[in-house]
Amino acid sequence: MSTDIKPIDPVARSFFAGEVSGIDLTRTLTDAEVAAIHAGMDRFGVLVFHDQHLSDDQQLAFSRQLGPLETATGDIAAPQDRRLGMELGDISNLDKNNEVLPREDRRRLFGLGNQLWHSDSSFKPVPAKYSLLSARQIPPAGGNTEFADMRAAYDALDDKTKREVHDLICAHSQIFSRGILGFTDFTDAERAKWAPVRQRLVRRHPTTGRLSLYLASHAGGIEGWPVPEARAFLRDLSEHATQRKFVYAHVWQPHDLVMWDNRVTMHRARRYDHTEVRDMRRTTLTNEVSSLQQAP
Ligand code: OGA
Ligand code: MN
Repeated sequence: MSTDIKPIDPVARSFFAGEVSGIDLTRTLTDAEVAAIHAGMDRFGVLVFHDQHLSDDQQLAFSRQLGPLETATGDIAAPQDRRLGMELGDISNLDKNNEVLPREDRRRLFGLGNQLWHSDSSFKPVPAKYSLLSARQIPPAGGNTEFADMRAAYDALDDKTKREVHDLICAHSQIFSRGILGFTDFTDAERAKWAPVRQRLVRRHPTTGRLSLYLASHAGGIEGWPVPEARAFLRDLSEHATQRKFVYAHVWQPHDLVMWDNRVTMHRARRYDHTEVRDMRRTTLTNEVSSLQQAP
């Protein structure tokens, strides 16, 4: 079996979102396969693997072959309420007994923040590199995941805007992003744990050298700017960056694994019937350094 990666939409988006075939993620990968995945990520930013029947341990082992993992310290569930260990992000609507969360459950309402465009863990001082999301059970309709190409979005800015954003530093916090949805039900401990962190608005990819806009709904301010002006500008940039021409919408099949590079993409979940089960599990590679160390 040899690994092959092709653009999902060769006409509209030949450089964004690739489909990988000829690889079995349940077993230990060869060095050549690991290299092919990294090269595919550098080129496409998002990779889709179909029919990967992974256990949690297999997902963890495969993810670790690509780099060191971060832990799920951005989740709101208390440790005793967690369904999965700290190395798996629980992107489901289930409690630890695999029951669907009630509509008003605080974990569910917090999780609705995933429906806003974001980049994973940009609210942590050291954010995420790749996210790997495995679909174990999907609802009969809805629940797509959309991805926006932040390299293409940067490239499409006019020169004046490129100069303006070049050295800006944003403040990112989950308190900001959840506040957009009117979720303000945070404890003092959560407010302290998720105090704003600094991230560059423009960052350089360490291997491709390409620049991208590093935006997320977590970004609630720009250093040195009045807050309303910063938020209005970030909203304009985000609107620009998520035009349909920059977006790939993934329609899930059970046992798909989708991997994205958080340095060059934003993503968001789409609505689905909250009484249906949606069980997705995420492993996440740490970026190891802050975006502040990836200056353009
Ligand atoms: C995530 C995420 C979107 C979705 O896993 O980080 O934002 O569609 N998921 O569940
Ligand atoms: Mn996410």
